[in-house]
Parts: sequence; C-alpha cells; structure tokens
Amino acid sequence: MRRTAIFWALFTAVLPLACGNDKSSDPPQSQTSASITYYQDMLPIFEQHCLQCHQDGGIAPFRLDQYGPAKEHAGEILDETSQRVMPPWSATSDGSCQQFSHSLALSDDQLAAIKGWVDGGAREGTPRSAEVPELPTLGDALELSTPAFSPVAQGGDLTQFDEYRCFLLDSGVKDLEFITGYDVAPGTPAVIHHVLAMVVDPDAPADIDGQTNGELMTALDAESPDRDGWPCFGMAGDGVAVESVPVIWAPGQGVVEYPGGTGVPLVPGHRIVVQVHYNLADNPGAITDTTTVRLRLASSVENVGVFVLDDPLLYSLNDAVPHTLEPGQPSVKFTWQRKLKDYFGDTPNVQLLGMMPHMHQRGRKYRMNLGTGSDLGCAMDVQSWDFHWQRMYFYSQPLPITSSSNLEVTCDYDTTGDTAPVLPGWGTRNEMCLATMYFSIPAAELGL
Ligand code: HEC
Repeated sequence: MRRTAIFWALFTAVLPLACGNDKSSDPPQSQTSASITYYQDMLPIFEQHCLQCHQDGGIAPFRLDQYGPAKEHAGEILDETSQRVMPPWSATSDGSCQQFSHSLALSDDQLAAIKGWVDGGAREGTPRSAEVPELPTLGDALELSTPAFSPVAQGGDLTQFDEYRCFLLDSGVKDLEFITGYDVAPGTPAVIHHVLAMVVDPDAPADIDGQTNGELMTALDAESPDRDGWPCFGMAGDGVAVESVPVIWAPGQGVVEYPGGTGVPLVPGHRIVVQVHYNLADNPGAITDTTTVRLRLASSVENVGVFVLDDPLLYSLNDAVPHTLEPGQPSVKFTWQRKLKDYFGDTPNVQLLGMMPHMHQRGRKYRMNLGTGSDLGCAMDVQSWDFHWQRMYFYSQPLPITSSSNLEVTCDYDTTGDTAPVLPGWGTRNEMCLATMYFSIPAAELGL
C-alpha cells in the first residue's frame, strides 16, 4: 500500500559541510621527499581538508594547524589518508563520477605529497601562520530544542554504547516558510554523534499499517511513557513516512546553506522529528542533553528545494513477500530503478542538486546512475561505505532532469555476520537502500 515515493511539495534539503572550498593546492609532484615540508606543502592541504575539525577546540582529537602535533601524528596521518578514512568523505571524487562542491577528498597528488612528507622525515620548513577556517554564522534563526533527555545505551551488537532517539517538535510557523540554512548546537558535544531533523506531515498516511503518521507517532511515543520520544535508527521511527530531511548534521559541519538559491518548504502544521544519535562509549555516566536545531527561514525563495526519499527495498515490506538479503554473503546486491517522471511529471527546469546515500551497518558500496532513456551515467559512487560519516553531497554543477530521465540505484551489502535472511526496515537489525535526493524547481513552476 505504500505509495510512490514522491514527496513533492515540501521538502527540504541538506547538507554539505559548509566549509572548505574547491581550490586544491598545487601538487608538489616534482619534489623529492626530503624537500617536502609541513609549512610549505602539508599546511595548504590541511587548511583545505582538515582544519575545520583538527583545530583548537575542534571535534578531532588533535590539531593539525601546528607543526608539533602534525609531526607527532605523521604515521597515522599517512595511514588514515591512504586508506581514505580521513578526511571523512565517502563519495568517489577522482573525476570518474561527478564533481562535488566543498569536496574534502584528497587527490592522488595530495596523497603522494603526504606520503613524501612522512617518508622524508616529516620536516618542518619555514614557519608561517596557518589559515584556520572560520565557520560562517547563521544569523537570525528559528530555534527548536529537544527535551532534556538522559540517553541510555540500547545494548546488543550494533547499539552496545548507543541510543538513537526521535523527538517530536513543533515549528510553530503560521505561514508557509522556506528553510534556507541550518546549524545544530549539540547540548553535550561529547556524546552527540549525529542529528537529523525531518519534516513529517501528521495527516499523511504512514509507510505501514494503514495509519496516519500522526497516529503512528503517538503510538510509538506511548510505548515508553516514562521517557521522551521513541526509538528510531534509520529515519523517524518504524513506518513513519518522512516528507523531507532538511537537517543532516554531524560534528565538524558548521552552518549549512542550501545551494542554488533554494529553500525547503515548511508548511504550518507539519511536524519536525529530530533524531539524535547518542554515543555513550566514552561517557557512560549519567548525562542529560538538550540539543538545539537552528533553522534560517525565508518567506519566499527563487527556487524550491524538493526532497525526494525513495527506497523500494524498504517499500517491499508492504509486499506479500518482502525482499530479503541472502545471509552469509560477502556481497549481496539490491538494485532498483525509477522514472523521474514518477516524481515530477512533466515539470520543466528541474535539477538535481545533490544526494545522500543511506544504508545501515551491512552496507559496503553504493552506486546511483542517472540519465536519459537507457543512457545512464554515474551520479554517485561510494566504494567504502561508512555508516558513521553520512552526509549530503552537492554537485558543483546541478544535473538537469527531464521527463525522460531515469535513475538506477545499487546497494551492496556484506551479510557474512547473518545466519537468517535480512529484512528491510528502519531498525538497527534491518537494512535500507535509500536515496535522499535534493532537487530544485523554480518557485514559479510550483506557483509559489
Ligand atoms: C569533519 C571533521 C574532520 C575532518 C575534515 C578531518 N578529520 Fe581527522 N578526525 C576527525 C575525528 C572526529 C577524529 C577522531 C576519530 C573518529 O571519530 O573517527 C579524527 C581522527 C583522525 C586521525 C586519527 C585516527 C585514529 O587513529 O584515531 C587522523 C590521523 C586524522 N583524523 C587525520 C586527518 C587528516 C590528515 C585530515 C585532512 C586531510 C582530516 N583528518 C580531516 C574529524 C575530521
């Protein structure tokens, strides 16, 4: 019974790291290792790709804007960058699959320079002051805070030290507004792993059970009367149909401004579900957290940001026999296709500005192809899925969408740890193959 996956009208957008820029430093290719230095060769790379987190007071465990700590961690820097664990950026960005704005990815030349620096003894060079990126500020914003909440680890293999909790909030807006940017102030930064804010229409049908979203959320909330909110993992809780995901936040991100002069509609009466992932591994003691999501609103925008969330693997739960993933396999693939016409009909001037891949913990690889007819090209490629660093990736150049555009998504999972077929679902034990896509449509086309 689940409808198509279109969430037209109101939807939102999301999240790039707001910092960094697209300049890449000149590769010191012709240099020998011994002449590669921290100040002349590494710092320009770190300024662009690392310092937003690796600075005094930043979220990373050490700073890279000073020679001392950089030299001390040189070996780890080589390991982490060569394995592409750091900087956190999963989308293949070597030119084989789109160009992304604010890309954190290191080029092969930059990786070679880092290797040369470490191999050459991690030399200092001639000191200069580092340009530490300052994060922009949001300005006036609507502030929505989660209730004071004391997280408790859920236990089990996948959530031994974690709690994923959803809270229902009211935007309080009286007229249609558009979200044009956001920021998140974690109450207890040490335990806040990530924050999502989703818009949910309480009167719309839920994804399962023949209830409305409002009824379903009331029922979920009632299951733990002594604690605020309800458990959730993938999205807004089992069965809740999400209209848009305007806030996707992980530490280090700073202020996010939606690209392309877009804003995501916020309709009066639609609710905001904030999902907080608390990680208590290093802080098992009693903690009470209140986290604040800040939304910058505008009463009109030139282009409407439209979120479409689509996941036929998940929707197969409504089939008589849901699709399952075969257990015990190092690679199990699920592929789905969609005509973009199903989302937008013949609306002209639609563009795809960005997308966020999403799977759970068994995810290995992710691929989205997009094109006209059967002529599809790469729109997203992830070779090494990292559940812990999820984000929206925005293209440097928007991708045009027509009524003959088609897309195809392939998720690849490792089920070697499973002995029973894996069902789709919103929980830790289940899997998803979700594409969260952010489109722009001229407001005039929508009569807004
Ligand atoms: C978005 C924030 C962010 C950016 C950008 C970033 N890091 Fe990190 N880095 C972290 C965090 C947080 C950790 C702590 C470990 C973790 O949570 O994964 C870390 C850990 C590390 C570690 C230690 C890994 C370990 O053994 O624990 C190294 C080395 C590292 N980063 C190097 C880099 C380099 C080099 C860059 C840039 C090329 C970079 N990082 C960019 C956030 C970031």
